[in-house]
Amino acid sequence: MNIRTQLDTIITQALANAGADNAPAVVKTSARPEFGDYQANGIMGAAKKLKMNPRELATKVVADLELNNEITELVESFEIAGPGFINIHLKNTWLAERIEQTLKSDNLAIAKTNKPETVVIDYSAPNLAKEMHVGHLRSTIIGDSISRVLELLGHKVIRQNHVGDWGTQFGMLLTYMSELKQESSELNSELEVQLADLEKFYQAAKIRFDEDETFAAQARENVVKLQAGDVEFLKLWQQFIDTSLNHCDEIYQILNVKLTRDDVAPESQYNDDLANVIIDLDKTGLLSENQGAQCVFLDEFKGKEDSIIPMIVQKSDGGYLYATTDLAALRYRHNQLGMTRGLYLVDARQSLHLKQVYVVGKKAGFVPESTSLEHMAFGTMMGKDGTPFKTRSGGTVKLIDLLNEAKLRAFDLVTSKNPDLDEESRRSIANTVGIGAVKYADLSKNRTSDYIFNWDTMLSFEGNTAPYLQYAYARIQSIFRKAGDINNNAEISLLEPAERLLATKLLQFSEAVEIVAKDGTPNFLCNYLFELSGNFMSFYEACPIMKADEVTKQSRLKLAKLTANTLKTGLDLLGIDVMERM
Ligand code: ARG
Repeated sequence: MNIRTQLDTIITQALANAGADNAPAVVKTSARPEFGDYQANGIMGAAKKLKMNPRELATKVVADLELNNEITELVESFEIAGPGFINIHLKNTWLAERIEQTLKSDNLAIAKTNKPETVVIDYSAPNLAKEMHVGHLRSTIIGDSISRVLELLGHKVIRQNHVGDWGTQFGMLLTYMSELKQESSELNSELEVQLADLEKFYQAAKIRFDEDETFAAQARENVVKLQAGDVEFLKLWQQFIDTSLNHCDEIYQILNVKLTRDDVAPESQYNDDLANVIIDLDKTGLLSENQGAQCVFLDEFKGKEDSIIPMIVQKSDGGYLYATTDLAALRYRHNQLGMTRGLYLVDARQSLHLKQVYVVGKKAGFVPESTSLEHMAFGTMMGKDGTPFKTRSGGTVKLIDLLNEAKLRAFDLVTSKNPDLDEESRRSIANTVGIGAVKYADLSKNRTSDYIFNWDTMLSFEGNTAPYLQYAYARIQSIFRKAGDINNNAEISLLEPAERLLATKLLQFSEAVEIVAKDGTPNFLCNYLFELSGNFMSFYEACPIMKADEVTKQSRLKLAKLTANTLKTGLDLLGIDVMERM
């Protein structure tokens, strides 16, 4: 159990002993060191319910706590402050002991959950008709970080890359592909050249579609053929999808994201189940016909002026929709994957769609009521001017171009700081810094709001950025290059305030990790790592290591070691690499 939870549990019990049942202790880390390490803020609320004087209740609670070995083992003193806060000062010896244990443990003493879930996490999910663009960045990296965190805590994580490979645009693309095949004698190589730039390929197909009526008619016919299982078209389509997924894999590799081909669960996978979805919805009585289309009307889907926005699951021409596929995917995840918790990393603009899928899925019995379905929504990435991020000419920015630019900019930066380093080393550092910076800039923001993409701030060595954290890590490694190995038998002492502050912070790592697991908010972990680096820098200034006597030196090296381990593990949970030298 982490310190906060441990204190919270015991103090909540003490409140109950004092007559306040079901009153949470609300233990938080203290805003300032003078207020102790933690504080319990729940006393005032509990006293109000009991119609009691809060300071009197606090006195009772503290008296109870002082008799409880479980808490006096770690707490030096309690202090009643203001209207009824309890400030909690932890014991130095206990902190030192914990640091020691954490250093020795695997995984920084992060405890595995006692309630392991099967978490299906739906992220990245680009539409394969085009190349990945900046709009796919957030889902991909936030989802990846959350899945790493859940795995570390011992949950069974199943990644599902719900790529769009089955829409009507494929009729247009396939028609264009077969045209090219007829024109070219060396068809495969020619086609490959064309497909190398999917974006251009799409544009070219679109022009044919818009300008030529026969082509457009053919395209519409071909979608129907494809979806009905025409062997020739399926072959062409497969070729297109493969090329397109290769593009994605390249991006995932550059981004250091864990998604593989095995995680691809494309929309087309559900094709054969769509008719059943409609039949089963009909059986539950949820379906009604509206202008020839099959819809679900539910009170939950109220729009403006109380009008109900229906969820359309089958068009009047018999075609199925995005929503139908999501319902099929939902029950597949329950029946085949054993999902107990489902996380959807999808743009905030799809929140009505997902809400409809969840409500209808539960009402239809596709998933049980108990399954937690969570839309982990995110806002839009904006340019400096506050409008959605675009190229100079106003087009969408290809993700690959953005990532290449990040590497180039980081290379200039590294070169200016380290002109004497050989080029290969500078390139390698630049790649880690550049990609880390782009990811961190995104992960460190509250995901629900839009955010402004700014090269200068994300590549700065000051402030809450990846380069700052990577630099803090490299700096500690350079200390170890000078100091050599640690003497493992050395004792840790925390007499200096900066040592104590750093130690307490180090022990709060699991608190940050658990918040990310619960709320899907990597920005909490980023903030934690930023504060930890700040505490380390202050410690490093106030407490010399190499110049200290041997005993003190060893103790401080241990703190430095645990800081480095924590930074490395924490950044790895964000999918960001560290370097030994920068
Ligand atoms: N392909 C979709 C898009 O680009 C995102 C899919 C999200 N996942 C889902 N199960 N609907 O908008």
